Amino acid sequence: MTSPLVQLVPIPQRGDARGQLSVAELGGALPFVVRRVYWIHGTKPGVSRGFHAHKQLHQLCVCVAGSVRISLFDGRREESVVLDASTKGLLIGPGLWREMHDFSPDSVLMVFADSEYKESDYIKSKEDFIKSVI
Ligand code: TYD
Repeated sequence: MTSPLVQLVPIPQRGDARGQLSVAELGGALPFVVRRVYWIHGTKPGVSRGFHAHKQLHQLCVCVAGSVRISLFDGRREESVVLDASTKGLLIGPGLWREMHDFSPDSVLMVFADSEYKESDYIKSKEDFIKSVI
């Protein structure tokens, strides 16, 4: 049986009368030590992003406001998921071609990563990616 490309992890919420507080911590929603956090926001209408794979990087994506659709492709299968709640974490490991589509205007996509930014970890050509996994 093939394992799903979309690996969702629940992000615990500690809500009370004041509102919500969401937690991503090591051993909880986060299976790795975080060395970098970035967030994608203010995405213009109709813009899609991503279009690359990583050789080593592990990431946890959480859409903390609004929504975004993320598609994952392993060279054979493609799966897509809509992140539309701050309780929904998406783990993306190495060897997956990712694209981000349908950003809502208010979308804020937080990404936790297990490594600093390294240009050399990117595969930016889909053709090269397919060659690397097949
Ligand atoms: P880019 O990789 O094009 O974003 P995406 O593929 O998610 O759409 O990144 C946009 C720019 O930001 C590019 O010049 C690289 C830079 N960048 C960093 O400097 N550090 C980072 O952690 C990331 C993710 C990007």
